[in-house]
Amino acid sequence: MKLLQGKTALVTGASKGIGRSIALTYAQHGANVAFTYLSSVEKGQALEKELEAFGVKAKGYRSDASNYQAAEDLINSVVADFGGLDILINNAGITKDNLLMRMTEEMWDEVINVNLKSCFNTVKAATKTFMKQKSGSIINMTSVVGIKGNAGQANYSASKSGIIGFTKSVALELGSRNIRSNAIAPGFIETEMTAVLDEKTVQGWRDAIPLRRGGAPEDVANACVFLGSDLSAYITGQVIQVDGGMLT
Ligand SMILES: NC(=O)c1ccc[n+]([C@@H]2O[C@H](COP(=O)([O-])OP(=O)(O)OC[C@H]3O[C@@H](n4cnc5c(N)ncnc54)[C@H](OP(=O)(O)O)[C@@H]3O)[C@@H](O)[C@H]2O)c1
Repeated sequence: MKLLQGKTALVTGASKGIGRSIALTYAQHGANVAFTYLSSVEKGQALEKELEAFGVKAKGYRSDASNYQAAEDLINSVVADFGGLDILINNAGITKDNLLMRMTEEMWDEVINVNLKSCFNTVKAATKTFMKQKSGSIINMTSVVGIKGNAGQANYSASKSGIIGFTKSVALELGSRNIRSNAIAPGFIETEMTAVLDEKTVQGWRDAIPLRRGGAPEDVANACVFLGSDLSAYITGQVIQVDGGMLT
């Protein structure tokens, strides 16, 4: 069953990890997919071809999510290239971890700008189109540490908590225009990044999760399908945890 047939989605940060999985899962469900990347140029270009193999329209854009003007240009290009925009997924994110004592101003600013300001940038630019269409689904990627906090991640946790406040505020402001705004809070998702970590440590994390496994990128992508589709037509202002019960 194709749940996103005829819809156009923009996924930021789709060259790898969770974003790549969202883009592929969306294409499998019939969505036309615009996506961004920044440093992984080859991977971004390769993804365009992989998506097209599903018979949908796909286009990658090299765009820095933290840059306000770049985000406005991006949304304008996507709307011109695809003829509209139905689903906006703010997935691009980075970490610059350290204890507060050792965290520099640059580490703080960069994480807040890439993770949090990026959501403001794209949502602000996309709102015009959503209002005109009288519909839109915004999905912002937060994290369980945005709910709970995490030692060594003050900048990252703050950015992810900020995303939750932003998501709920947008839901309240734009609900009357049939624009929905939700967030997804992944727990421990196993990606290329975690594959290089010490297996014993990772197994310890898995054992502490009620469902006894790390999440797969597809677990997050499937939640994005639900929030992007009409199955969630009456859901806005929510944070869905995709964490195997980790934060319960
Ligand atoms: N993995 C987890 O366990 C986990 C848990 C909770 C939340 N999350 C969140 O889920 C999202 C994806 O995480 P991930 O694990 O898939 O990370 P990842 O594998 O490191 O991928 C991050 C993506 O973001 C892009 N990106 C980074 N900075 C960017 C910028 N300034 N402008 C545009 N794109 C940028 C990267 O593109 P380039 O490589 O092309 O630069 C890449 O495609 C993030 O928001 C993360 O905070 C992840």
